[in-house]
Amino acid sequence: MSSQKSVFLFLSASVYHSGHIRIIDRAAGLGELTVALLSDKGEDEFGIRPTVPFEERARLLRTLKGVSDVIEATSLDCTSELRALRPDVVAHGDDWKIGRLAPVRAKTLETLAEWGGELVEFPYTSDLYSPQLIDDDQRSLRVMSMPEMRRPRLREMLASYDRPIRVMEAHNGLTGLIVEKAEVEVGGEKRSFDAIWVSSLTDSTAKGKPDTELVDNTSRLDTIEQIMEVTTKPIILDGDSGGLVEHFQYLVATLERIGVSAVIIEDKVGLKRNSLFGLAGGQDQDDIPHFCEKITAGKKVQKTHDFLIIARIESLILEKGMDDALERARAYVRAGADAIMIHSRRKEPDEVAEFCRLFKAEFPDVPVVVVPTSYNHVPESELGAYGADIVIHANHLIRSAFPAMQRTAESILENGCSLAADEYCMPIKEILTLIPAASD
Ligand code: SPV
Ligand code: MG
Repeated sequence: MSSQKSVFLFLSASVYHSGHIRIIDRAAGLGELTVALLSDKGEDEFGIRPTVPFEERARLLRTLKGVSDVIEATSLDCTSELRALRPDVVAHGDDWKIGRLAPVRAKTLETLAEWGGELVEFPYTSDLYSPQLIDDDQRSLRVMSMPEMRRPRLREMLASYDRPIRVMEAHNGLTGLIVEKAEVEVGGEKRSFDAIWVSSLTDSTAKGKPDTELVDNTSRLDTIEQIMEVTTKPIILDGDSGGLVEHFQYLVATLERIGVSAVIIEDKVGLKRNSLFGLAGGQDQDDIPHFCEKITAGKKVQKTHDFLIIARIESLILEKGMDDALERARAYVRAGADAIMIHSRRKEPDEVAEFCRLFKAEFPDVPVVVVPTSYNHVPESELGAYGADIVIHANHLIRSAFPAMQRTAESILENGCSLAADEYCMPIKEILTLIPAASD
C-alpha cells in the first residue's frame, strides 16, 4: 500500500491555462493525485460549454507529471466521487469560500468529516491570471482573451479579492494596451489594473461626439472589439440608459456572447447628458418600475451565471436625496441587479460613504461600484473601507492625452516646424517598435 496521502482535486477546465497547471502542481505536491475533471454536461451547466470534449481534456491531463488518475465529475457536487474514493486530502483554491461554490465547499467539508479527511486550500492569487505570467506566451494570451475565459473573471474577482477591484478607462486598442500592461511597484507590492471600463464619455469624446447616447451600440461594440483584440482583462461596459427594454435585451445577449463581464445601466430617461453636468444637464430620472423592468428583462436573456447587470443610481447626482437612492437600490436588487453603482459629483466622499454604510447594512453581499472623478483625492483603500467593491477611474487616459496632443499641434503651428514639439513626443524609433508585428 502506498505511504503517500491520497489527494483529490476537482477541476473545472473547458480550456487549460497556466493557473490550472499551477494548482495541479501544488496538489500533486501533497500526495498521490486524482483529478476529478468536470464532464462536458457539467461544464455546460456551469456556464462554459467546452470546445474540447471530455475524453480529450482527460487524456491531456493524464500526461501531466504528478497526475495519477483522472475521473469524470458529473456536477460541481463531488459527494459521490468523494465517498467512493475517501481521499485523505481534498485540494482546492480558496476562492470557493464565497459565491456559488460556497455551498459545495460546505458539503465537501461535511463529507470529508465522515472519514476524517482534510481540506487544503491554496490562496487564490490574481497572478493565476496575471499578464506577467502569460506575457511571453502568445498562446496563453489568446486563450485568456477567449470569451469563456474573460467573461467570468470579474465575478471571480468579486468573490475572492479582499480589496476593491481597480478599473481603468480605455477607448481604443492603444488605451486598452496601456490598461492591460501598466504596472508599478509600490512598497515592494506590484500593482496593475484588474479590469477595463469602456466609458460612454471617453468613447464618444474619442470620436469627437457628445456623451448623449449619440454613438450607437454598433459603434460601441466596435470599440470593445478593438480593445478585446489586444487585451485579456475583464471588461465592464458603460451601457448608458440601456435604451429601450427590447434593445437592452439584445445588447446583453451580444455582450455576454463576446465575453464582456458586466454592463452598467443608469436610471435616466430622455436625452442622456453626462452625470457630471448635474442639475444643469436637465436630466430626468427613470421611474422605478420601468427601470426594474429593464433590469429583469436583461437578466432573463442571460445564458451564463458569469455576466453582471449593474444598476446605476443617479439620485445623488440629481439631488433627490439618500432615501430615494436607497429605495431605488432595494428595488433594483429585487429586480435582479447583480450590483449597484452609486454616483456622486461632490468633492468629498461623504454621501457615497453614507450610501455604502446604509446599503451594506441591508445587502452585505451585493457589490457596490463607485466612480471617484470629483472626489479623486480619496484612495481606493479608503473607498474599500467605506464598502466599495469596484472603483472605476473613468476618463483619465483621454483627459491626459488631449492636452498633450493639443500642445504638440499648437507648437508646430507656432514654429512652422516640429522640432520644438519633439520634447512632447515619443522618439520615432520607439513608436516604430512600440507594437511588435505578430511575426516578431
Ligand atoms: C462615463 O465614464 O461615461 C460615465 C461616468 O458614465 S461619468 O462620466 O462620471 O458619468
Ligand atoms: Mg457614461
